Amino acid sequence: MPRVRLRRLRRSPSLREWVAETTVELRRLIYPVFVRPGTGRPEPIPSFPGVFRYSVRGVSALARELSSEGIHSVLLFGVGRRKDPEGRDAWAADGVVPEAVRAIRRAAPEMVISTDVCLCAYTTHGHCGVVAHGTVVNDATCERLARVAVAHAEAGADVVAPSAMMDGQVAAIRAALDGAGHEDAGVLAYTSKHASSFYGPFREAEQSTPEFGDRRGYQMDFRNAREALREMEQDVAEGADVLMVKPALTSLDLLARARQRFLLPLAAYQVSGEYAMLRAAAAAGVVDERAAVEETLTAIRRAGADLIVTYFARDVAHWSRGGP
Ligand code: PBG
Repeated sequence: MPRVRLRRLRRSPSLREWVAETTVELRRLIYPVFVRPGTGRPEPIPSFPGVFRYSVRGVSALARELSSEGIHSVLLFGVGRRKDPEGRDAWAADGVVPEAVRAIRRAAPEMVISTDVCLCAYTTHGHCGVVAHGTVVNDATCERLARVAVAHAEAGADVVAPSAMMDGQVAAIRAALDGAGHEDAGVLAYTSKHASSFYGPFREAEQSTPEFGDRRGYQMDFRNAREALREMEQDVAEGADVLMVKPALTSLDLLARARQRFLLPLAAYQVSGEYAMLRAAAAAGVVDERAAVEETLTAIRRAGADLIVTYFARDVAHWSRGGP
C-alpha cells in the first residue's frame, strides 16, 4: 500500500484551496490599450474580437471603467496620426500616446501607466526602426526610441516599454530619461521577444505589418534559450527595471530560467494570437473559455511571471466579481 498518498489533499474543494500554490491576482494583470487619432467611439478590430481602438477621449472613459473593475495597470499602444519612413510622429509631444497618458492620469490618477516604445505603428514600411539598404539600422533606431521614451515620460508615463529589440535600446532610453530629468520613470524591457506567428491580430490593430521582409533580423529566434538569457543579462546590465518575455505560452521555460537567475520582477505578454486562439477555440466549443484562460494565466504565473500583460484582464476582473 502507498504510504505517500498525494490524493489525500485533493479530496475536497477546501483541501485543494488549502494547498493551492499559485494564484493570479488582478493586481498582477496589465491591460493593453490601443489609442488611435481622432474622436468618436471605440473601433472594433475584425481579427481581434473584444478589443478596440480608443480615441483619446474614449481612453478617459475606459480608464475610469478599468479602475472601477479593479484593473490599475495599462500598457498603451499608439496608432500613428501619420506615417513617414522615420516614424517621427512616434516622438511628437502631442502624439496619441502622450495625450492618452495625460487623459488617463486625469481620469484615474492611481493607474500605473506603461507605454510601448517602438516605431512600427508610425513608419510607412512598418518596421520597428529606421531602415537603410533594406535593413533596420540599430544605433540610429535606439536614438529615435530614446526620444519616444522621453516624450512618453514627459506626459507622465510611469514606465516605458521598449519592444523594438534593438541592441542597447534600454541603455539609450535610460540615459535619455535621466538626461531629461526623468530618473524616476521605469523601463520594462521586452527582453526576449520572439519573431512569432502569434502577433497577427495586434498588427491589424496597430496597422503595423511590415511592408517587406519580416522581423527576424531583430526579434529573437524561438529556437534559442541561451541567447534569450543573454538578452536578459544585457537588459539587466543596461538598467531595466522589469524583464518581459513574449509570447507567454511559448516562453514558459525562459520564464522559469529567468526566475532562478534574476531578482528583478518578471513579466510575460500573453499576445494577441494567444488571445485570439483561445477565443476562437471557445467560440467553436472546443474549450471552456474561462477555464482555459485561468489555466493559461496560472501556468504563466507558475513559471515565474510576477506580471502578465493580457487582453483577458477585464474578463478576469468580471469573473472575480462573480460574473458568469
Ligand atoms: C511592436 C509590438 C508587437 C507586439 C507588441 N509590441 C508586434 C510586433 O512585434 O510585430 C505584439 C503584441 C501582441 O501580439 O499582442 N513592436
